[in-house]
Amino acid sequence: MTSQSRPPLLGVDGLVVQYRRPGAAPTRAVGGVSLEVRSGEVVGLVGESGCGKSTLARAVCGLTPAEEGRITFDGTPVRPLNVRRRDPALTAVQMVFQDPYGSLNPRRRVGAQIVDGIRAAAGRGETDGPRTPEEYLSRVGLPESDAQRYPHEFSGGQRQRIAIARALAARPRLLVGDEPISALDASAQLHVATLMRSLALESGAGLLFISHDLSVVRHIADRIAVMYLGRIVETGPAAELWDSPRHPYTQALLASIPQPDGAGVLPAELPGDVPDPSAPPSGCHFHPRCPHAFDGCDREEPRLTSGGVACHLHPAA
Ligand SMILES: Nc1ncnc2c1ncn2[C@@H]1O[C@H](COP(=O)(O)OP(=O)(O)OP(=O)(O)O)[C@@H](O)[C@H]1O
Ligand SMILES: [Mg+2]
Repeated sequence: MTSQSRPPLLGVDGLVVQYRRPGAAPTRAVGGVSLEVRSGEVVGLVGESGCGKSTLARAVCGLTPAEEGRITFDGTPVRPLNVRRRDPALTAVQMVFQDPYGSLNPRRRVGAQIVDGIRAAAGRGETDGPRTPEEYLSRVGLPESDAQRYPHEFSGGQRQRIAIARALAARPRLLVGDEPISALDASAQLHVATLMRSLALESGAGLLFISHDLSVVRHIADRIAVMYLGRIVETGPAAELWDSPRHPYTQALLASIPQPDGAGVLPAELPGDVPDPSAPPSGCHFHPRCPHAFDGCDREEPRLTSGGVACHLHPAA
């Protein structure tokens, strides 16, 4: 099989995830997302708080059920499973959670938790790579003696590094990082993100790297997908998207990146917050905040074109 005909490592097709509460409209956190990650590829997923990034990440790892659509890992459907009965093959998919406290066991030493990862890899026949937790800790910039300590003895940023070490120890073929660097100092963020990229790619894995910070993502991602209120609004090669964003939302996100002179922290052209996903705007979800909205944007939902943009300003050729 050629690399083109081989199924992607991760395939997401028309994924819909809704949260239901009795007596209230469902929250459509992911509203029809299609996405691919190939082996050896880093895909960055960006978007404002509440747009559905974590929900998408959890669904990809089989932790949140999909309402519609299909998720495949190496061509095999990923089904949500009881955590206790998680398919051993799915240890090849590792996630670093937004809140590393939630994913580390407070009662077990850090080293023992990293050993779990090493054993999971060995169970799949993956035995090359470091064999001790100390080696993984030093890879993520922590002293080897930290293996003997408990999670509560660390800062939030250190816990994120431990969570990354543990995920890498399982020799994942797909690593999903949900804001994996958010608790780190600004000065360490790019360093650790770059480290994640190189450690993941070193073993030929794919990396789905989720962040609201486009300025970090553009340095480590091969491709970027921009999400707004449960939908992908633009996707493309990282450099292209950074240099010539087409969707007004991507343009606004870029304009909101703090400039060295301190200007532009909040984009003047992007007023308001992400709307409530249980009552999304009609048509293009972005139209109430869009500086270029015209008649029709409030009625018809733009489709993501083969060129990678979902906007009525850029109709399919
Ligand atoms: N367990 C849940 N029950 C009900 N609604 C939820 C649940 N988790 C998330 N939501 C809602 O789904 C939407 C998407 O949430 P999600 O956490 O996926 O966003 P996000 O992009 O990861 O945001 P952030 O950048 O703040 O982490 C939000 O409106 C959120 O309030
Ligand atoms: Mg999140």
